[in-house]
Amino acid sequence: MKRFLFFTVLCFALLQIATIFCSAETLSKRKSFSFNGFDVEKNASSFLFTSPTSSIDQNALQITPDNENQHNGYKNKSGRVMYRESYKLWSSDRPDDAIASFNTYFVINMYRTEAWESGEGLAFLIAPSHHVPAGSHGQWMGLTNVTTDGKPENRIVAIEFDTRKQGFDPDSNHIGLNINSVNSTKTVPLSEFGIELSPVPTTNNSVWIHYNGESKVIEVYMVKEGDSKPETPLLKETINLRQFVEQVSYFGFAGSTGDPGVQFNCVTQWKFEIEVFPSEKDWKWLIIGFSVGVPLMVLVMVLCGIKIRGFCLKKKKRARDEEAGVTGKLKMLPGMPKEFKYKDLKRATRNFHESMILGKGGFGVVYRGVLISDAVVTQVAVKKFSRDNIDGKEDFLAELTIINLLRHKNLVRLEGWCYEKGKLLLVYDYMPNGSVEKHLYKSSDRNTLSWRHRYKILEGVASALHYLHNEYDKKVVHRDLKASNILLDSNYNARLGDFGLARAIENERNSYNELELGGVPGTMGYIAPECFHTGKATPETDVFGFGAVVLEVVCGRSPGVKIQHEEHQFTLVDWVWMLHREGRILEAVDERLDNVYDVDEAIRLLLLGLACSHPMSSERPQTRALCQIIAESMPPPRVAPFKPVFMWPSFSTAFSSVEESSSSNM
Ligand SMILES: *[C@@H]1O[C@H](CO)[C@@H](O)[C@H](O)[C@H]1NC(C)=O
Ligand SMILES: *[C@@H]1O[C@H](CO)[C@@H](O)[C@H](O)[C@H]1NC(C)=O
Ligand SMILES: *[C@@H]1O[C@H](CO)[C@@H](O)[C@H](O)[C@H]1NC(C)=O
Ligand SMILES: *[C@@H]1O[C@H](CO)[C@@H](O)[C@H](O)[C@H]1NC(C)=O
Ligand SMILES: *[C@@H]1O[C@H](CO)[C@@H](O)[C@H](O)[C@H]1NC(C)=O
Repeated sequence: MKRFLFFTVLCFALLQIATIFCSAETLSKRKSFSFNGFDVEKNASSFLFTSPTSSIDQNALQITPDNENQHNGYKNKSGRVMYRESYKLWSSDRPDDAIASFNTYFVINMYRTEAWESGEGLAFLIAPSHHVPAGSHGQWMGLTNVTTDGKPENRIVAIEFDTRKQGFDPDSNHIGLNINSVNSTKTVPLSEFGIELSPVPTTNNSVWIHYNGESKVIEVYMVKEGDSKPETPLLKETINLRQFVEQVSYFGFAGSTGDPGVQFNCVTQWKFEIEVFPSEKDWKWLIIGFSVGVPLMVLVMVLCGIKIRGFCLKKKKRARDEEAGVTGKLKMLPGMPKEFKYKDLKRATRNFHESMILGKGGFGVVYRGVLISDAVVTQVAVKKFSRDNIDGKEDFLAELTIINLLRHKNLVRLEGWCYEKGKLLLVYDYMPNGSVEKHLYKSSDRNTLSWRHRYKILEGVASALHYLHNEYDKKVVHRDLKASNILLDSNYNARLGDFGLARAIENERNSYNELELGGVPGTMGYIAPECFHTGKATPETDVFGFGAVVLEVVCGRSPGVKIQHEEHQFTLVDWVWMLHREGRILEAVDERLDNVYDVDEAIRLLLLGLACSHPMSSERPQTRALCQIIAESMPPPRVAPFKPVFMWPSFSTAFSSVEESSSSNM
């Protein structure tokens, strides 16, 4: 009887899961097109051509000229033909890292006469535009040129069909995977498979390319046209397109001829289909589906759990079950990203070697990791929690859900997780430029952050904070804003990291207690005075922390380090406030900038920093005002000449406006 009940519940749960997957399925649409030959009149408007080298002629896409008179010879030409519509390859608001999967089939023809040496080649291309770089004839295949080859700014990925050997090529009849360069990441010679790209007399060759956006595997199959598709791909590689191409990219072909190597580079048929991510509107429905479905499912699981426990009451709980429980829950979290294997992360961080340490935080150590999957190298930051057993698993899971749902361009992205052997590891995007703290204090003076960078960083931090406080449906406080937690991506955009302490504000236990106040070096100076009384983190305490960061970044001085001025010792805030009172606030600006900064911007930021450092939490500006002031759509705050005194308890008055914060509480 019990068994029967259990299975009923189980079936119900499975049904629920199926429903959710189906609703996801109906939302993931596909787009496709198919050209069984190309008609110059009817089909030309579907493509973008490099003029005048590319065209539709002879019922085919001619990537390079096929008509000598019209184009002043065949030699040294390059061109691109791209499908007119661009596609969004991933969705920034979609809570996982999937990329649009696509499949394509095309037939190529690389015609030449007996008198011509073959050259150079043709490529299936994913690119930001159809514009062919100047000087991309010859070995550059319409992809790059001598100055741009190998540069990540190209934002291209291609499958090349190469008919001429360069120094780095295996032969003059191969395919290759090209990432921003004509020097392929991987090549496959074709002769041993009985395929010739550019024989005399000519042949047509069929190509299938499949990209799986889940597993990130690209596969290339190829045969002489008319033969059936082989079982195994000629080329198979893992490549995360997100790292190399634009989010919105074009698909098409590039090609070139050289001197003496020339041929026609034609595509005679092309079919293409791509997964289309649902629009945000559709996602709302999906999220509603999830928010109804998931709690229901959890309920069912709980019921199942009770049943299972009923069965296994006599069995001793083992640590292994425990672990499986956490892992299971992690896997069930909505949109939880990739699960990593402990051994892979161990290898990536060279067994958590000291030389790979990026930083240490309250909860653990962060390592640099180098993941190698086939030939694709990805750098990540791996956070290893120091506590061997995570106490309060429920808390932790709740927190992880929040971290995972937060998506903003100024937040460090969670890539995945690993929970094995009682050890928890979180994997984040690697930030090549390290932390703001490092740039302010640990690099040589010459390399200190420029004013532009500093302004942009603060703009980014304000924007991230605004997002955390307002745009996510539960208010999230960061709780640990400081220079070492602000990381810089390759373009010096600020990315807030370390949400180890982030927690939805609804949670009652959002206290600083576990921060071990004072025991965390470098945190003093960022903590608002009321925290010592309430022990609570609030949006206002975050703004206080932001103020400390603003002053730190503008002045190049740590808020925790006292400043000796005449016979007084000042904290950073008091020192800036004193300079403000004496009408010489610009003396606070970091000397290492050598006076290369914008005076108005510096005054604006310093006043903002002071306004945020107001001892009374209710008088501090809110994040919207922070963003507006930095964006100069709102005047800088007026700041009283003397720092107001801190009073406890505070009579929290509703925040009215930044201007008013100046005169009160003197
Ligand atoms: C391409 O041209 C053919 C006529 O040759 C026409 O039937 C077909 O609809 C066109 N395809 C597209 C996508 O415009
Ligand atoms: C083609 O370009 C190469 C160098 O890129 C040059 O040596 C050669 O003379 C050019 N040939 C023609 C016909 O323009
Ligand atoms: C290479 O291409 C870039 C971008 O299209 C262009 O600015 C540059 O002048 C080109 N270099 C040469 C040598 O043609
Ligand atoms: C081509 O790339 C390989 C590594 O992928 C490198 O060793 C080689 O030097 C490159 N060759 C040229 C000519 O750039
Ligand atoms: C290649 O394909 C084109 C267009 O479908 C066709 O006209 C031509 O005869 C084919 N050539 C060979 C050698 O099969």
